[in-house]
Amino acid sequence: MQRAAVILAAGKGTRMKSELPKVLHKVCGRPMLDYVIEALNNAGIENIVIVVGHRGDMVAENLPVTVSTVNQHPQLGTAHALLQTKEKLEGFNGSVLVVGGDTPLITPSSLKNLLEYHENIKAKATVLTADLAEPGNYGRVIRESTGKVLKIVEQRDAGQEELAVSEINTGIYTFSGEGLFDALLEIKNNNAQKEYYLTDLIEKYVKAGLPVAATKIKDPGEILGINDRCQLAEVESIMRRRILTDLMLSGVTVVDPKNTFVDRGVEIGQDTTILPFTIVEGKSYVGPNCTIGPGTHLLDVQVGAGALIKNSIIMESTIGDNCNIGPFAYIRPGCVLEQGVKVGDFVELKKAKIGVKSKVPHLSYIGDTTMGSGVNIGAGTITCNYDGVNKWTTVIGNGAFVGSNTNFVAPVEIGESAVIGAGSTITENVPDNALSVARGRQKNIEGYTGKKSTKEKGL
Ligand code: UD1
Ligand code: CA
Repeated sequence: MQRAAVILAAGKGTRMKSELPKVLHKVCGRPMLDYVIEALNNAGIENIVIVVGHRGDMVAENLPVTVSTVNQHPQLGTAHALLQTKEKLEGFNGSVLVVGGDTPLITPSSLKNLLEYHENIKAKATVLTADLAEPGNYGRVIRESTGKVLKIVEQRDAGQEELAVSEINTGIYTFSGEGLFDALLEIKNNNAQKEYYLTDLIEKYVKAGLPVAATKIKDPGEILGINDRCQLAEVESIMRRRILTDLMLSGVTVVDPKNTFVDRGVEIGQDTTILPFTIVEGKSYVGPNCTIGPGTHLLDVQVGAGALIKNSIIMESTIGDNCNIGPFAYIRPGCVLEQGVKVGDFVELKKAKIGVKSKVPHLSYIGDTTMGSGVNIGAGTITCNYDGVNKWTTVIGNGAFVGSNTNFVAPVEIGESAVIGAGSTITENVPDNALSVARGRQKNIEGYTGKKSTKEKGL
């Protein structure tokens, strides 16, 4: 049986109170819509049409090329939304899976089960349902005493008895493509919201004597829909736990999953330990045998094997194998640290390339710099990279030894194995192997404070 899917994503998402279309709000770093597309793809469905409306251009912008969109203007309800795919799915007689763009927790296996159930019993429509202790504002699935599905009633339109039903409509269905659009055209909007409800198709088919079925999802947690930011946070925490569970099962130690935040798609190697209050975001990768955290924030960072990173913030940078970073380092975009580099406390780096086993152990600012290997930077050393108009670069050769509190006034180049005296302000290039001292010579003025002893001064 051929399969296609329609994602309904045209609604305003009024309850989000947002300028951003609801389906673009992020869950663990990715728009919620991405998860639905991914689940469909992983269920083997490539033919996907998304119904967009409110800020549809924005939604359509970053979609995979295989996914097409149709516009729904104005948004007159879920049946009206599905009707907009008529041209795209004209003549398609296979199974049409319909799912909301706001249920990112749905899994490929649940979608596959629904499709298989529908196809096996040759139904015209199959609703995926769930039993909820608190059915809230979901549509209720009304069955006959024999168990046969009769209709779905929206909460707003439901009577007392119907409201008490705990089996709800997940908003996920499979329809037979044959005759689907003709049937949709006949749906009326005589309900509390004056909308064309897709749920009315069920009753319509039942009345026409066509086979309609319902199947319950195993884990009702999967169908949690996001309508407001409280539900967004709820879904985020479930998704976060899923990501961490996958990581733990793949050999990563997560000491405190409640206080660890890893974006979807981040890869972490075996035997790495993530300590509490750590956030790993974006396109990040962490190699095996690392210890990351506590209190570390990585955004778009590639970390090699065996690195230690504690209480630090790193963005858009590459950290080599066995680097040792922090506590309290701030590594800004454009840095490349080669293998075995040490970056210690209260060090800020920006656009700096640091060679193998070089050390910047304390209290430094190194920006727009290319540093060779085996360099030692004394505490308090600073690159003066900005003259108020332009940024300039500092180059430091292999094996250079830089005394504490040095200022490098860029542009400046320091030769290999050069030594810089502590407290120097270096404004000119230093040749290989040279010692450079650039500070006032020490002068001692004897007897400056007179001959009285400290005791006589009453100290
Ligand atoms: C819908 C179902 C309800 C079900 C619930 C599950 C109907 C009438 N009701 O209610 O039975 O329990 O989902 O979550 O279908 N959309 C459009 N165009 C529109 C209206 C909605 O594309 O004109 C999209 C929305 O963007 C959303 C999805 O359809 O992704 C569901 O719409 P929403 O308004 O959230 O429906 P619910 O009230 O949740
Ligand atoms: Ca909804």
